[in-house]
Amino acid sequence: MEKKLFGVTALFNTPDEIIKAAKGVRESGYVKYDVFTPYPIHGMDDAMKLKPSKLGYLTLGFGLTGTFIALFSMWFTMAMDYPMIIGGKPFFALPAFIPVTFELTVLLATLATVIGMLTFFFYFPNNSHPLHDTTFMKAVSHDRYGVCIESIDPKFDITKAKTALSGLGGYDIQEIYYPEKSDIRLFDPKFIVFLIVVAAVTSGAIYFALNKLVYMQPFTWMQHQQKLSAQAETKFFADKFSMRPKVEGTVARGYIPYEFKGLAAPTTEIVNPTFPSEKNLALGKKKFLTFCSPCHGNYGDGDSRLRGQFPNPPSLHSAKVRGWNDGNLYHVLVNGQNVMPSYESQILPEERWAIVNYIRVLQKAKNATLEDIQAVRKEGK
Ligand code: HEC
Repeated sequence: MEKKLFGVTALFNTPDEIIKAAKGVRESGYVKYDVFTPYPIHGMDDAMKLKPSKLGYLTLGFGLTGTFIALFSMWFTMAMDYPMIIGGKPFFALPAFIPVTFELTVLLATLATVIGMLTFFFYFPNNSHPLHDTTFMKAVSHDRYGVCIESIDPKFDITKAKTALSGLGGYDIQEIYYPEKSDIRLFDPKFIVFLIVVAAVTSGAIYFALNKLVYMQPFTWMQHQQKLSAQAETKFFADKFSMRPKVEGTVARGYIPYEFKGLAAPTTEIVNPTFPSEKNLALGKKKFLTFCSPCHGNYGDGDSRLRGQFPNPPSLHSAKVRGWNDGNLYHVLVNGQNVMPSYESQILPEERWAIVNYIRVLQKAKNATLEDIQAVRKEGK
């Protein structure tokens, strides 16, 4: 197989010589060349007429993208989708959004810079270079200065390049070739053993940290608190329950006990204290759909999503239920009925009445008479 030429190198002894050489190579019209020195040399950028790196554009582009994403998502969540009043400030409160915006800008800009540099400029994952492991590289990383004219240069001609370099005072002129075979050492036993050791050590360390360390003092101090957990046993009370029952004959704050609890029906009529306004019915609909529709169905027909997994409730449009007064409906909701559980603890009294009003609307809609329809037409709705 023919060897592929990478370029021609030459060494120089002093910084002044290398600056002159860089200038000379550039003036001869070469563009694909590079200069190697053990330390940065002043004036080199100018001698090579290097343009500023393009990496900055990538950084700027991704930085601005970060700014935009941060501002947009905060605007969308805080001012559009779920506006929340926080401390009386406007929904789009720019000063409060600055830290996040700044962070995301910096995050995207830096990530893009590093990843862009590695991939676009260093051709990651390629991690080798024909100049590696050459005597040229050893010299220029130690005490010499060097130039390499690459074979991809449009003006490249091997003899001309060599004469140009020696004309500029270069010595030890070499031809550099691409390595013939790439050296993949993935299955090297040493490497495999190294991977196994790393895997064992990291999993051991993680196991120890998550399963042992956090249960040792002082890390457990937060766990051992002077308090009773709801489901925990305690030695403090004689019955060993840490959750306490209500004290006999008392009522919790803000709680109005339901006087017909446990009875089949209210013994005196309970009057609906609410008016079925549009707002009230909207509330009733919302709560009905949340709490009742899973079993009773969206329209109270008893045809719910749970069909078959729970005893089917009867239709709320039966003559029986339609004949009930509002208090009876309220009673079933608060008290439950046979397999239907009580919803007393989930739903507030005014919400319960709103549900009752909404059930009345459903019933009316399902059993509308011609007169009802004509009345609605007359109202022009
Ligand atoms: C977990 C399922 C379930 C949910 C949720 C549920 N119910 Fe029921 N409901 C039933 C069942 C089952 C029955 C029939 C009980 C029986 O056998 O007497 C019933 C019966 C009723 C009855 C009496 C119907 C009759 O003909 O006797 C009313 C009124 C009622 N529910 C209202 C409601 C309201 C209002 C809600 C919402 C707060 C609600 N239910 C939520 C399952 C449910």
